[in-house]
Amino acid sequence: MGSEERSQPWWKSAVVYQIYPRSFGDSNGDGVGDLEGIRRRLDHMAWLGVDAIWLSPFYRSPMKDFGYDVSDYCDVDPLFGGLSDFDRLLAEAHARGLRVLVDWVPNHTSDRHPWFVESRSSRASHRRDWYHWRDGRPERPPNNWRAAFGDSPAWTWDEATAQWYLHLFLPEQPDLDWGNPEVVAAMHATLRFWLERGVDGFRIDVVNCLGKHPALPDLPAERARIPACALVDEPGTHALIRDIRRVLEEYPGERVLLGEVAIPWTERVASYYGEGDELHLAFNFPPLYAPWDAAAWRERVADAAAHCDPRGAWPTWVLSNHDNRRHRTRYGSEARARAAALLLLTLRGTPVLYAGEELGLEDTVIPDGRRVDPGGRDGCRAPIPWEAAEPHGWGGAEPWLPWPPEPARRSVEAQRADAGSILHLYRRLLATRRGSPALTQGDLELLPAREGVLAYRRRCGRDARTMLVNTSDESREVPLTAGLRVEVASDGGGEGRRFGGTLAPAQALILA
Ligand code: GLC
Repeated sequence: MGSEERSQPWWKSAVVYQIYPRSFGDSNGDGVGDLEGIRRRLDHMAWLGVDAIWLSPFYRSPMKDFGYDVSDYCDVDPLFGGLSDFDRLLAEAHARGLRVLVDWVPNHTSDRHPWFVESRSSRASHRRDWYHWRDGRPERPPNNWRAAFGDSPAWTWDEATAQWYLHLFLPEQPDLDWGNPEVVAAMHATLRFWLERGVDGFRIDVVNCLGKHPALPDLPAERARIPACALVDEPGTHALIRDIRRVLEEYPGERVLLGEVAIPWTERVASYYGEGDELHLAFNFPPLYAPWDAAAWRERVADAAAHCDPRGAWPTWVLSNHDNRRHRTRYGSEARARAAALLLLTLRGTPVLYAGEELGLEDTVIPDGRRVDPGGRDGCRAPIPWEAAEPHGWGGAEPWLPWPPEPARRSVEAQRADAGSILHLYRRLLATRRGSPALTQGDLELLPAREGVLAYRRRCGRDARTMLVNTSDESREVPLTAGLRVEVASDGGGEGRRFGGTLAPAQALILA
C-alpha cells in the first residue's frame, strides 16, 4: 500500500524553478537581465504554478564564470541592481506565495575577492592559509588534479610569492580552505546575512568539494583526466555540512539546503543527506546524463530509491540547468521533451525546472565570435523570449547572447495564447501534481512494461496515479491499465477519456 497522506515540509512537495538572472528579464535595457527584470516577471512563475525560485548568483563578481566567481558575498553586482532590488523581489515573491533560494558559492571565491587579494599579497599574509597554497617548482603542479574548464591543471603558479594555489575551476576561482576555522566563520556569516534578509534557503554550489584531504593526494591515474570537482568526496565534508545546517536551523521557518553534489554516482550523492542532518535535498545528475531510453531511466529511478529510501533521503529530479545542453536539445524533439516533462513532474521527489524548459526552448547555436563562457555552456543560457514581436520583451541593447531558435513561436506570449502549447502542458502537470497526494508524497512502484515504455504507479492513501512514458518513437501497447482514465497526456491526446491501451509515439500519460 502507499503511504498515508501527512503534512510534510514544503520543500518535499515543492517544484523549484531555476532562474539564470542574466538571461531572464532586463529592466534597464543594457542587454543583461537583472533583479528588477525578474520581479516584473513574477506573475509568470505564479501563473505556471511553481513553489520556489532559485536564483543563480547575482553577487558582486568580475564575471569570469558569470557570477560563480564571487568578490563580495553580501552585495548585489551593479549589473543586477542593488540590495534594495533584492529585498523588493523577495517581498513580492513571498506575497505571491513563492519561496526564494539563493545560490551560495562556498568552495571558491573570485581572485578579486579581498580575501584572496590579501592572501596572495605575501606568504606572511594573515589570510595566506584561507586558500590552498603549496610549495613546488613552476613546471610541476603539486598533484594531478584537473580543473573543470579548459583541460588544465587545477593549480596556478603565483610568480610573486613562488607558490601554487588550488582552483578546481578557473584560475580566477581560487578554492577556499575549509579546514581553516576562520574561513568557516566568515562563510557562515555570509549565510546569516541572507537568512536575516529572509531567504528561504540556498542552492549550494559544488558542496561535495568543501572538504579537502590535508595532503591533497593524487587521484588514481585512471581517474586523473576527470575534473577533480566531480571526484572530491572527503569524509570531512559531512561535518562541514552539518555545521552549515545548524546555522540554518538557528532561523525560524523551514529553510532549505539544496546542494549541488557534482559526483556522478547516486550512492555517493545520497551520503550527503547524512542522518537527516546534512542537506535537505541534493542534486543527483546521473538521470540528467542518461539517454532518453526507458531502460536507462528505469535503472536511474530504481537507483534513486535504492540509495535514498533507506536513509529517509528525499530525491530530486532535474533535466536541464545552466551547465548542460537543454533536454529539448539532447532528446531531439518537442514530443520527447513533453514526455520528459511528464516524467520529471511525476517521479517521487522534488523536481527542479530550468527557466525556458516550459517553453520547449532549444539551445542556441552560438556563432564564432559570440562565445563567452569558458566552459562552453552559452547555448542553454540564451535569453527568455517573453513577447512574440522583437525584441521579445527585452528592449534596449541587444541581449548578451543570441536568441534561442524560433523566439517568436516559443515566446511566453505566443504559447500562453495556445492551449495546446508545451507551456500549458507544464501548467497542467503542475496543477495535477499539486492536487494529488500520490504525486506529491506517495510511494513509487515500477511496473513491468514492454521495451521502450517506463511504467510506474504512485499511491498515497486512497489516491493513486499510474504513469506511462513511451521513450520510443513508435506506438506501444500497454495491456495492464484497462479502465483507467487519461488525466494528462504529453501531447494532449485523449485527456478525460478512458485509456485504450495504446501509447502514441513518444507519448507519456498520467492515468487516474
Ligand atoms: C557549479 C555551477 C557552475 C559553475 C561551477 C563553479 O557547477 O553550477 O555553473 O561554473 O559550479 O562555480
